[in-house]
This record gives sequence, structure tokens and C-alpha cells, in this order.
Amino acid sequence: MKKMTIIIRQGKQELLKQLLHDSGVKGMTISNVVGCGNQKGCTEFYRGTQLRTTLIHKVKVDVVVSDDVVEEIIDKICKAISTNTVGDGKIFISPIENAVRIRTGEKGEKAL
Ligand SMILES: Nc1ncnc2c1ncn2[C@@H]1O[C@H](COP(=O)(O)OP(=O)(O)OP(=O)(O)O)[C@@H](O)[C@H]1O
Ligand SMILES: [Mg+2]
Repeated sequence: MKKMTIIIRQGKQELLKQLLHDSGVKGMTISNVVGCGNQKGCTEFYRGTQLRTTLIHKVKVDVVVSDDVVEEIIDKICKAISTNTVGDGKIFISPIENAVRIRTGEKGEKAL
């Protein structure tokens, strides 16, 4: 299993939810976050001096999925979510050791 942390622009979450659903993903956790990337948010300059760095509001979607759908989801996200401009977001992928459905005690992929 892998956890995919997908950070996207506000307003793109419905598109992402649909695309995940199409790949058989049912469970997800969505948070409103602030952050910055390479452009350090929106950096303002006054007479050549950096005044402040602003954090941009983004949507973070965490999904734990089976290994075999990771590449498919990455492809779909890059095709559907990209506007080809800075700030489109990022995907971070990390291994998940186990999952448990508390109601039944099911473990592993059965718990997803
Ligand atoms: N290295 C990182 N670690 C954690 N979060 C990050 C990282 N890079 C980006 N993020 C998060 O992703 C959001 C979107 O990042 P963004 O798409 O601007 O990345 P970027 O590297 O600047 O790429 P681009 O040049 O296309 O804008 C950020 O606002 C931040 O919340
Ligand atoms: Mg950026």
C-alpha cells in the first residue's frame, strides 16, 4: 500500500475526487492547507527588497491505495489537473505499513 498526498489548487477537488473514484478509490481525507513551493508563494518586492512571503491556500488530499493503481492515478492527475502554470501542485508518495478498519478489525488492503 502507498499513501498519496496530493496538493492541488482550490477548486480542483471535485475533479480529483471523480478521478480517484474512477480508479476505484473510495476513502480519502481532504484538508485545507496553506503552503508555498518554488516561487515561495507570492513574493513582493519594493525597490529590489523582498518585503514578505505569502502562503497560498491549497487543498490537500490524502489517499491510501494499493500499489498497482499509483501510476494510473499519477497519469490521470497530471492530465486532468495540470493548467501548465506554476502552482498546479504536487504529489508525494510514501509506503504504508498497515491499515485497520476499526469496525471489523480487517487489516491491510481489505481495510481500505
Ligand atoms: N517540497 C515540498 N514539501 C512540502 N510541500 C510542498 C513542497 N513543494 C510544494 N509543496 C506544497 O505544494 C503546493 C503547490 O506547490 P507548487 O505547485 O507551487 O510547487 P512548485 O515546486 O513551486 O512547482 P511550480 O514551479 O509548478 O509552481 C505548495 O503551496 C505547498 O503547499
Ligand atoms: Mg510553485
